[in-house]
Amino acid sequence: MQRLILAALLASLWTPSLQAGDWCYQSQFSCDHQCKAPDQWNQANGDCGGNYQSPINIVTKKTVKDERLTAFQFHNYQQLFRGTIKNNGHSVQVDVPHLSIISGGGLTSSYKAVQFHLHWGKDGGPGSEHTIDGEQYPMELHIVHMKHHYTDLATALADPEGVAVLGFFYQHSNNRNQKYEPIVTALSSIKATNGNSSLPSISLAQLIPPEKNLTSFYRYKGSLTTPKCTESVVWTLFESPVPLSADQLRAFSQLKFHDGRPMVGTFRPVQPLNGRQVFHSGATRILTSSAILVAAVAAAVGLCQPN
Ligand SMILES: *[C@@H]1O[C@H](CO)[C@@H](O)[C@H](O)[C@H]1NC(C)=O
Ligand SMILES: *[C@@H]1O[C@H](CO)[C@@H](O)[C@H](O)[C@H]1NC(C)=O
Ligand SMILES: [Zn+2]
Repeated sequence: MQRLILAALLASLWTPSLQAGDWCYQSQFSCDHQCKAPDQWNQANGDCGGNYQSPINIVTKKTVKDERLTAFQFHNYQQLFRGTIKNNGHSVQVDVPHLSIISGGGLTSSYKAVQFHLHWGKDGGPGSEHTIDGEQYPMELHIVHMKHHYTDLATALADPEGVAVLGFFYQHSNNRNQKYEPIVTALSSIKATNGNSSLPSISLAQLIPPEKNLTSFYRYKGSLTTPKCTESVVWTLFESPVPLSADQLRAFSQLKFHDGRPMVGTFRPVQPLNGRQVFHSGATRILTSSAILVAAVAAAVGLCQPN
């Protein structure tokens, strides 16, 4: 009897700490480590079982063109800052000074950058959260913004459009991307969960493609992709990927979860659309270049309208 009481007492003592750090990615689940994998996040994890969850697979032929999705204005994205890069046990994250602001892009307000983090696979294999026509990219960058008048993310998350995340995909390149060296280099000193390291000066602009490449993007309403999965996110996913070498992509797999195992497969599986519409901005890059090509051919051959 006493033993039972002791067991119950221990269980009740255990519960709070389990709740805090209990969720995990599918890659972390095993028979001897039964954490809450993504299909169980809905058990006591806020909105994770809701109808407007992220990430999603974007079926490009079902997206709807929206003329209101004009180009973004990136204010102070070139601003250099010295941040701290941290292994938070689920990802690698950098909190940024609230100086970089986005507007335009069909957003109903301006939003300021709060932090960025990444999601990746194993050794440069498939690892993005969103997929495009079923294709999973090797990594995905999330730059998290909140409406400009908020001062903390918790408050912004209570507003159904309080948070805007800009998502960028990565693709393998034959060359190292020099603009990513500060981050890739820092990874080796934050392998352990809760490890942190100060970065040399970087800007948000150096982490993303040039502005002229950012006019093609997808837009939908969704959620945070980790518990509590709050449905307060206006999502933007840019078509133009960031190039990284195989070595640079592989470097993220040297990080470790709290149990010391490799931090890989840090993505949530895609979620049902449940009737949501995904929009796309103006013309895609491919359409633009083929339109230019048609115009160029027409000019060269002297093709004209029939009359
Ligand atoms: C970085 O880690 C040290 C201890 O290793 C800690 O004192 C400090 O608060 C941490 N900084 C951040 C920003 O997490
Ligand atoms: C920008 O887009 C052009 C044309 O699509 C592409 O060739 C170029 O590599 C892109 N630049 C970067 C840095 O992503
Ligand atoms: Zn994310």
